[in-house]
Amino acid sequence: MAKLTFPHDFLWGVATAAFQIEGACDEDGKGLSIWDEFSRVPGKIRTGESAEVACDHYHRWRQDIALMRSLGLKAYRFSVSWPRVLPEGSGQVNEKGIDFYSRLVDELGEAGIEPVVTLYHWDLPLVLDRRLGGWPNRELARYFADFGDLMYRRLGDRVRRWITINEPWVVCQGGYLLGDLAPGHKNLQESFQAGHTLLLAHGMAVERLRAVLPEAQVGIALNLWPVHAATDTERDRSAAARMSSYVNEWFLDPIYRGDYPGLMREAFGDLLPSFTAEEREIVQSPLDFVGVNNYSRTIVRHEEEQFLEARQVGAPGPVTHMDWEIYPDALREILSWVHTRYAPPSMMITENGAAFKDEPDDAGRVNDSARVAYLQTYLSKAHQAFEEGVPLTGYFLWSLLDNFEWSYGFSKRFGIIHVDYETQRRTVKRSGEWYAQTISDNAFET
Ligand code: FCB
Repeated sequence: MAKLTFPHDFLWGVATAAFQIEGACDEDGKGLSIWDEFSRVPGKIRTGESAEVACDHYHRWRQDIALMRSLGLKAYRFSVSWPRVLPEGSGQVNEKGIDFYSRLVDELGEAGIEPVVTLYHWDLPLVLDRRLGGWPNRELARYFADFGDLMYRRLGDRVRRWITINEPWVVCQGGYLLGDLAPGHKNLQESFQAGHTLLLAHGMAVERLRAVLPEAQVGIALNLWPVHAATDTERDRSAAARMSSYVNEWFLDPIYRGDYPGLMREAFGDLLPSFTAEEREIVQSPLDFVGVNNYSRTIVRHEEEQFLEARQVGAPGPVTHMDWEIYPDALREILSWVHTRYAPPSMMITENGAAFKDEPDDAGRVNDSARVAYLQTYLSKAHQAFEEGVPLTGYFLWSLLDNFEWSYGFSKRFGIIHVDYETQRRTVKRSGEWYAQTISDNAFET
C-alpha cells in the first residue's frame, strides 16, 4: 500500500451544472433555456423524463450546502443559469435570480467552501436562440460578455475563480452536429460557426473579467481525452491524430496559438471559419488556468467512410454505466499533454467521475465500491501527473448529486450523494464518505 499525499492547498471540490440540478425552470421570473425547450420535445430524452424539478436544488440548496460541509469540501463548482438572471438574454435583470446565486455564495462562504462559478453550462436563453439563431451567430459573443459582466459585478466581491464556458466542443458536436443535445441541429458548418462564436465569447468574457475584477482568476473547462490508434499502422495512427486534433486542439490551439489546428484545417478547409486579427487577439486573452474534464479515452481505426476517416472501436477494458472505458491513465496522459503543448500557468481537473447503477441496500446504504475504485485509480494518476511536473491545483468530482444527465435523463447516476427522485431524499454514498476522508487527510491509500 502506498499513501499519496496532495499539496496542502489542493482544491478538493465537486461540480454541478444549473440545468442538471436546479429544477424551478420557470419560477421567480426565470426565462426558459434551450434545454427547457429541447427536453420537452418527445424523443429527445431517452427516458422521457423532464428536468422541471431535477434535484429541486433551487429549493433545497441550504440542505445541499450542509451536505457539502459535512463532507469537508474545500470548493464547489456550479453554473449560473443565464435565463434565470437575464430572462430575455440581455437587458432587464431578474433580481430574484441574482439573489438565489448571491445567497448560495454567502452560505458557501459561511461553510468555508470556495465557490467556483461556471458562466455557461449549456442553458442558453431560448429567446437568444430564437432571435439570433444561437451560437452560430457571432453576435451572441457580445451578449455572453454582457452576461459575464453582470455576474462579475454581482458576485465578484465573493467569487475569486471563474470558468467562462463548459465544454464548447460538446456544445458544437452534440448541439450542432449530432443533434442529441440542445438545440438539436445537424450541420457541420454550423458546428464550426458555433465553435467560433464560443471562442470569441470566451475571450470577450475574459477581457471583461480583467477590467471588472483584476484580482480574480479565470479559465475554461474543456472535455479532453487521449485518442489512441487501434493498431500501430500508419493509417490508424493518422486517424487517431486527426481525431485527437478535433477533440483536443479545436479550442486550445486558438486560445494558445491563435489559430485552428493544422490537421483540422486540412480536413475541413473553408468550412472552418477564419479569425480576423482582432478576433485572434481576443481569443488569446491569457488565462490563469485550464480546466480539464476527463473521464476516459477513445480508440480509433482508419475507415474511409467515417467522419475524419476514423471509426471508434470498442474498449478492451471494463466500462461504466455510460459505456465509457475505465482507463485511469487517460487522466495522467491528457494532463501531461496539455502541460507539454500549451504550458498553462495552472491546471485544474474540473470534472472527473463515473456513473454506476447505484441503489440503496435494505439498510438504506449505497455501497458504490466501483466508484471508490474508479476515484482511487484516477486520482492516483492525477497525483502522478503532479509529481511529473503538471501544475495541478485542484480536483472537482462530477458530481455532488445524482442528477439529470442531459439526453439520458435520470438514468445515469454520477453522484457521491444518491438522490431518490420521488422523495428528493439524499443519501451520502460510500464514495462520499471515502472522498470526505481523502479531503480530511489530504491523502489516500492505494
Ligand atoms: C460532461 C458535462 C457534465 C456531465 C458529465 C457527465 O460532459 O459537462 O454536465 O454531463 O459530462
